[in-house]
Amino acid sequence: MTRTAHIISTARYLPQRKVSNGELTERFAALGIPDVIDKFGTSTGITQRFYAPDDWATSDLALPAAKEALRRACLRPEDLDLIVFGTDSPDYLTPDTSVVLQYKLGAKNAGTFDVGCACASFPTAIALAAGLIATNAGIKNVLVVGAYMMRKLSDPNDPVCFFYGDGAGAAVLTSGSLQGFIGAAMQADGAYHAHWGIYSGGTFEPASAASIKAGRTQVRLVKPYPPEVNHEGWPRLFKRLAAENEFTPDDVDQILFTQVRKPSIAIAAQGCGVPVEKCHTIMEKYGYTGSACIAMALDDAIEVGKIKRGDLVVMIGSGVGYNQSAVALRMT
Ligand SMILES: CC(C)(COP(=O)(O)OP(=O)(O)OC[C@H]1O[C@@H](n2cnc3c(N)ncnc32)[C@H](O)[C@@H]1OP(=O)(O)O)[C@@H](O)C(=O)NCCC(=O)NCCS
Repeated sequence: MTRTAHIISTARYLPQRKVSNGELTERFAALGIPDVIDKFGTSTGITQRFYAPDDWATSDLALPAAKEALRRACLRPEDLDLIVFGTDSPDYLTPDTSVVLQYKLGAKNAGTFDVGCACASFPTAIALAAGLIATNAGIKNVLVVGAYMMRKLSDPNDPVCFFYGDGAGAAVLTSGSLQGFIGAAMQADGAYHAHWGIYSGGTFEPASAASIKAGRTQVRLVKPYPPEVNHEGWPRLFKRLAAENEFTPDDVDQILFTQVRKPSIAIAAQGCGVPVEKCHTIMEKYGYTGSACIAMALDDAIEVGKIKRGDLVVMIGSGVGYNQSAVALRMT
């Protein structure tokens, strides 16, 4: 019997504390850089972001999204066979955040693992979940989560904290015989691995008093990515995914890209041959929510009626490193 993965529910969680560009401008004006937030706001389209309480970890953000996705799927935590958790702002270096979520959720019959390819994690996690559902009779119900709390690992005096907003999104996939998941494609260029990341705290440089003092245990944008990485990389990946899975740009109802820079989405949409109106965005209202942003955009697009049953949806994520991952699904 053919088993294909379907998304049967989605949900998202946005914490309560809203931080406007105006609030950040005041803070950075006091630090002697009054214009930087306005510049970032103008170039990206981001106007605000949301912060979770200071004593929360990434798994705490994921929990309400996961519970709501299960409720909408009419499933109990114990019905889950697997949890796949996409994040690059984990609770701990090890163990995985997925196993913390499994415990907090009470998903006692689920195995778990994390996917850590930064903001490409959610489409990658969907592809992995779909592959495991298709090839294992015992893996039927899978919770896929994307959650992001990079803000807590950033330097509040670094203007790049403009980007980091907290949030989580979740999807429940189950096996069926209709076509849901269509295919995945991935590409990467590790030559950029030292551009943007957290460079002390792992085996390259374990955390030390010196690395903490120098700020190397916090996330740093050391060198910006050339714009072509997304402007040309996303359309290249899209065209490969479409050719390998035999659909055309006209067949696509929505593309959800990484939500970091609105003008980049317009350029990439044109490169894909898909109208920008078919590329839902959330960064203007939720900020950049990294490994959660595509999961949150999917749920948001469903809520506002831009994605409906029967639609062909493509999700394309870009993560530092860099990793880029794309999946295509038919919503059933
Ligand atoms: C991060 C990113 C969104 C920033 O885009 P951007 O807002 O267009 O950023 P810019 O670097 O042009 O900076 C905007 C302005 O802020 C200024 N600025 C940037 N960092 C600053 C800092 N630390 N302090 C003061 N000013 C700063 C810049 O000089 C620029 O000013 P200008 O307009 O007068 O030249 C962009 O680099 C990007 O899209 N990166 C790829 C994102 C991504 O997908 N990442 C995952 C891996 S591919």
